[in-house]
Amino acid sequence: MNTQIENKIKASNQKYLSGLIGKTLPERLEKQLEELDWSYLDLIHGGSQKRGTFAPLGAMELDEIAAKKEIFKEEGLKAIRACKVGAILLAGGQGTRLGFDKAKGMFNIGVNKELYIFEQLIRNLMKVTDEAGAWVPLYIMTSEKNDAQTRAFFEEHAYFGYNKDFVKFFVQAMAPAVDFDGNFLIEAEDSLALSPNGNGGWFTSFLRSGLDADMKARGIEWLNVFAVDNVLQQIADPVFIGATILSGRVSGSKVVRKADPHERVGALCLEDGKPSIVEYYELTKEMAEATDEKGSLLYGFGVILNYIFRVDRLLEIADRKLPIHVVEKKVPYINEAGEFVKPEEPNAYKFEELILDMVYMMDNCLPFEVEREKEFAPVKNATGVDSVDTARELLKKNGIEI
Ligand code: UTP
Repeated sequence: MNTQIENKIKASNQKYLSGLIGKTLPERLEKQLEELDWSYLDLIHGGSQKRGTFAPLGAMELDEIAAKKEIFKEEGLKAIRACKVGAILLAGGQGTRLGFDKAKGMFNIGVNKELYIFEQLIRNLMKVTDEAGAWVPLYIMTSEKNDAQTRAFFEEHAYFGYNKDFVKFFVQAMAPAVDFDGNFLIEAEDSLALSPNGNGGWFTSFLRSGLDADMKARGIEWLNVFAVDNVLQQIADPVFIGATILSGRVSGSKVVRKADPHERVGALCLEDGKPSIVEYYELTKEMAEATDEKGSLLYGFGVILNYIFRVDRLLEIADRKLPIHVVEKKVPYINEAGEFVKPEEPNAYKFEELILDMVYMMDNCLPFEVEREKEFAPVKNATGVDSVDTARELLKKNGIEI
């Protein structure tokens, strides 16, 4: 171990790393320690991130969209046919709440037949590509933990009928975990406890992978970024794309009306005059329940992790740092006695960048209302709210055989 690292370990009195001093380390661990960003430690006692002043933000609502649907759709299809639209599937998460040990997209949501989440998403996308008569380049973000299995799964299933020349994978960056006293955790003899650094890191990871060259060569001007875990996710939706392009804005976000004022979703709003997302726990009771003259909630449009971003603006803001969110999670680790511990309760902080913070940086955004029952079936938990059960019900309601 080099002396610089040794000194850092000593200076911050690292509980789990100090046992390594003076030893020859496995190459992997040595490399991780060399690359370790110690500034994460400064964040854990920093309290929550400072936010600006929130104000409500309306949305383009369903009736207005219905009235202009054909115009928007034509514009969107034109962009897709000109290969100006790419899609980014965020599939690097660990899906800890679901408790499935493989990539979430490999989960079989079917009942009487096999229907994998990835498969359903590809079907949703192919509704659009069939209509457009053109493929949409699809970039899939994985993590070190699930990259190999995700690639193999797509190969094994012949890309679920998608054109494989239009599918590319990239791996997101990792971040360390520390216990509540600021000790970096180790998860194996040759590795720190590392986990994917949150879905906000997607563009930096995309650039680092070099896939921006592919994007530029294809002439892509817009990226539609979406989460793996909504099986009703409408991808490269031409109406949404067209509406965003014609609005003259540099980003758009699909939103649904909150099921109730206290629903645990982030709501689109203004923060110091710029579009932003306020988390449900950041709203006071008064703000959460406030309504306008029509009785609609002022902070009533929840985001569903389906955004469209203009590429030139993304490139402009690419080197700006996103805030890092410190979250408490259960992280398995090796204790001082060398035993592997799988905690039952949160024991550590993880550090995540979130895509919702990008909306603020884009400067302007079109909030675009969609029907919840038709476009929002998140698979977060095994049972209960936003679960496999509720997603199955919603798939059936939408006439999808499962
Ligand atoms: P979630 O915030 O629900 O996180 O991800 P998760 O890791 O999948 O699940 P839990 O919280 O551990 O149960 C929302 C979307 O962001 C992606 C996920 O794959 C999902 O599409 N994501 C999340 C990433 O791509 N990378 C990450 O580091 C985190």
